[in-house]
Amino acid sequence: MKKREAQHRTGSALASLSLACTLSAMLGLTGCRGDRAEDPPRQFFPDLDDQQKWKPQTQTQFFADGRAMRQPAANTVAFSRAPLSAQVLEGNPAWSSSLLAERVDLLRADDAVYTGKDATGQYLEKIPVAVDRPMLERGQNRFNIYCAACHGYNGDGKGMVGVQWSYPLPNYHDDKYVVKTDDPLVPQWRDGYLFHTARNGVWSPDGTQNKMPGYAHALNVHDTWAVIAYIRVLQESQRGTKDDVPSAQLATIDAAAKAAADAKAAAEAAKAAPATTPAAPPDKPADKPADKPADNTPEAGKGGAS
Ligand code: HEC
Repeated sequence: MKKREAQHRTGSALASLSLACTLSAMLGLTGCRGDRAEDPPRQFFPDLDDQQKWKPQTQTQFFADGRAMRQPAANTVAFSRAPLSAQVLEGNPAWSSSLLAERVDLLRADDAVYTGKDATGQYLEKIPVAVDRPMLERGQNRFNIYCAACHGYNGDGKGMVGVQWSYPLPNYHDDKYVVKTDDPLVPQWRDGYLFHTARNGVWSPDGTQNKMPGYAHALNVHDTWAVIAYIRVLQESQRGTKDDVPSAQLATIDAAAKAAADAKAAAEAAKAAPATTPAAPPDKPADKPADKPADNTPEAGKGGAS
């Protein structure tokens, strides 16, 4: 009985010893990660834990000049690691068009577009990019955000901030901003000059005093041309006459103007008369046609009706 008990005890002691060994071995294995230790951790699956790298400004013997940081090749702009094969570009028109546009912006090879000046350094007379309606609408949007506070929504220089200025702001409708001249001291009619002004601001002749801030930080090159195109629209909107309106639309505008005048006369007559006749009905039909041409041709409508 006693012998058996002793045997049993030795057996269970052995079992627990081996269990303890296994556990401590497992602990040894699992205990590496996250624990503080003086020794380097064991790496069973090193993955990419260790690899060669150079910190900024490190020396290396690999290159003859001893610099680990490489200089970009002269006159190049790093752009895209993927080779831009025709297949890649044509297969992904949506992606490639934005990529190529980005690349053009990086290269800035077209001085006219990026500086507003021609090869001789003269300000361009005309906007060097295609102008279409979406561009004008973009220009209107940007102008109203960045320029109108001072220059006014119609460019007369009477914006909310403009009227508080210590001197009157320029009026874009002055002749010098519109009428072509050979006088080198009057570049204001040139689109390239307006572009340059929008991006760099206005400085005193000696270059020490900033009279108007530049907006290159807020407007990219394409938006700037859009703003200039919109300034030309504003000028046109103030200078237009009835002769600018296509004859087909002239009749509509004349009819609308007549209807508006009739409605006004009717409203005044109704006001003058005792309150027995309701004033509202005559207004209604006349309002409708008067709105119409304004919807179709805002600029022409303004010029034609006034
Ligand atoms: C904070 C007010 C302010 C804002 C905003 C502003 N301007 Fe001006 N701008 C001025 C002032 C002031 C002048 C007159 C500077 C001078 O000649 O003393 C001026 C002048 C100009 C001129 C005439 C330059 C000349 O030589 O005749 C142009 C063109 C112009 N601004 C374009 C713009 C455009 C485009 C924007 C929007 C991107 C803009 N400005 C935004 C204040 C402003």
